[in-house]
Amino acid sequence: MPGSNPRFLAKARQLAVDEVFLDLEDAVARAQKADSRAAVAQALREGGWGAKTRAIRINGATTGWAYRDVVDVVELAGQWLDAIVLPKVCGPLDVGWLDLLLGQIEQATGLEQGKIAIEAQIEDAAGLAAVEAIAAASPRLEALVFGPADFMASLGMRSLTVGAQPSGYVGGDAFHYAHLRILTAARANGLQAIDGPFASIGDLDGLRVSAASAAAIGYDGKWVVHPGQVDAVNAEFSPAQEEYERAELILDAYEYYTKVQRRGAAMLNGEMIDEASRKLALVTAARGRAAGLARTERFEPPGPDQALG
Ligand code: GLV
Ligand code: MG
Repeated sequence: MPGSNPRFLAKARQLAVDEVFLDLEDAVARAQKADSRAAVAQALREGGWGAKTRAIRINGATTGWAYRDVVDVVELAGQWLDAIVLPKVCGPLDVGWLDLLLGQIEQATGLEQGKIAIEAQIEDAAGLAAVEAIAAASPRLEALVFGPADFMASLGMRSLTVGAQPSGYVGGDAFHYAHLRILTAARANGLQAIDGPFASIGDLDGLRVSAASAAAIGYDGKWVVHPGQVDAVNAEFSPAQEEYERAELILDAYEYYTKVQRRGAAMLNGEMIDEASRKLALVTAARGRAAGLARTERFEPPGPDQALG
């Protein structure tokens, strides 16, 4: 949500999203950068955000706006702020700068050390080339976020629609390399990986394809830039009921076969399950539970004859 628009800030409170970020960067005009800091701080102080993670996006570390974005908003509203989204991260120094500055303000204002987390946007060639070092740059990091708009511009991809595939490309998914590299760096450091925006608001099918693709390879979520995108993205990132039930069955069956029957591997509905299957099932089960899905099926241990088999 642009930090410069009070109507949007009010509306953001009602949305069924896990996190909201109030933007001071690209959605805010240069002339409004300074005023937006106070508006964003006030919106945080006013509360009403429910269980949502509350974040702001500051301007990039190499701009003249960035330090005041942090100092003003955190001094005024640090207590009500969970995370800072740092855009256009080019290397670990950008993250180190923000980490230190936050530590100074936390000390000076009596906030708990490390209270405010960092989410690093990887959105240009330099950022992607340094993503492994960036992902390890601070214990405050919670997520890496892919920024398709800046990324496409940085690489020279032929597209005018943010988040959509470059026209004329026949090689599959033009974001695949960036997506997997960011995801791998995130996971190697225990971070979440979040996909960036899809700007064509009216193209819900295109949004679904984009969200489904990121969700399928393991991304934890995706930005939305309009209330009309929330339901589609939530749906694509929640496992289907059937998939969720299957994950819970695998967990129960694995528990039974390993603990009761003391086996390493077993068969469930014609498929072999072992320790690696359990790990896969844990991912889907955790996401299903987080999405509020409930199970309707239970695992039935086999009868005495089969149990010996
Ligand atoms: C988001 O910031 C993007 O550049 O896509
Ligand atoms: Mg960007």
